[in-house]
Amino acid sequence: MSDNKRILSGMRSTNPQLHIGNYEGALRNWVDLQNQGYDMFCMVADWHALTTMYENPHEVSVNAREVAKDYIAAGIDPAKSPVFIQSHIKEHAEFHLLLSMITPLGWLERTPTYKEKQQDLGSAEREPYGLLGYPVLQTVDILLYKPFGVPVGRDQAPHLEIGNDIAQRFNRLYNKDVFQPYKYMIPEDENRAKLPGLDMRKMSKSYDNGINISDTEDETAAKIKSAFTTPTKMRKTDPGIPEGCAVCQYLKIYSPNWEQQWEEDRNGERGCMQNKKELTEIINEYFRPMRERRAQLDDATIEDILRDGAKRAREVASATMDEVRSAMGIY
Ligand code: TYM
Repeated sequence: MSDNKRILSGMRSTNPQLHIGNYEGALRNWVDLQNQGYDMFCMVADWHALTTMYENPHEVSVNAREVAKDYIAAGIDPAKSPVFIQSHIKEHAEFHLLLSMITPLGWLERTPTYKEKQQDLGSAEREPYGLLGYPVLQTVDILLYKPFGVPVGRDQAPHLEIGNDIAQRFNRLYNKDVFQPYKYMIPEDENRAKLPGLDMRKMSKSYDNGINISDTEDETAAKIKSAFTTPTKMRKTDPGIPEGCAVCQYLKIYSPNWEQQWEEDRNGERGCMQNKKELTEIINEYFRPMRERRAQLDDATIEDILRDGAKRAREVASATMDEVRSAMGIY
């Protein structure tokens, strides 16, 4: 293990529920890293959610508490790993302003996620100034905590790259090695790094094609029932193509017998209904302890956890800001 044991990551609070793509791509690794002895800083990115949800800021704030519940339900222990809300640490706003002065516009305009979101929003009139700066704010989130690594899903790679580039530019401009490069911790299994949704597009809150960590067992069953399978497999005896079937993709992650299940699916020895039934049982069993833990978390407990998390996060963030101001000669 490196000397620097700090890890930082975050999720936007656009939605009150995290899906199993968020879990497989990131949260599962957060819990593993915590359990391996890393100092895992778990942030809820409410300001980032505002880039698309600026019309509903209160909802974003309410969702942030629910996202924190999902972190804890999934196994984050707030006594070990600070859980905090981005907007509670005002240092993020100050550093964002400073980094926005040194980030070349071209780097931001080229970001693939920016182009996608621009398309989603439709017109330039609806596109906020803050959206362009999204990767700058994410860089701030990371650099303030000087982490060893950042565990995220594949879609975040472009943001992480810009972050290391901005850090290098800061060091060069002000002639001081304030920031060391951090590692990108993306699951090696591509299927987990970019988990497909029930319709085989990427699992995403905006496509509404996910299974949520906190769904009930019945909701999970109904969603799996509607999942995309091999379109040409009408009967059990028709050959399946597991690589293109959402149910088979999830079996590969959650079922210890997936190889046999895939083989039988391919050979027309098992039907989609059987796959769906077995998957529902396995997924419900896997997430049951998390769902039970989540149901026991009350709002007052979460507020206490977030207050404590913010206190611990602020200590680190404000020390970094002192270094930043000093490197820049601002006093
Ligand atoms: P967000 O909120 O879109 O997603 C949260 C995390 O879940 C991962 N993820 C997935 N992984 C695998 N398969 C999927 N289908 C899938 N969908 C989402 C994402 O890669 C991410 O790790 N910009 C970030 C939030 C953020 C952040 C940060 C992350 C703000 N500041 C600082 C790291 C460090 C985002 O929008 O994630």
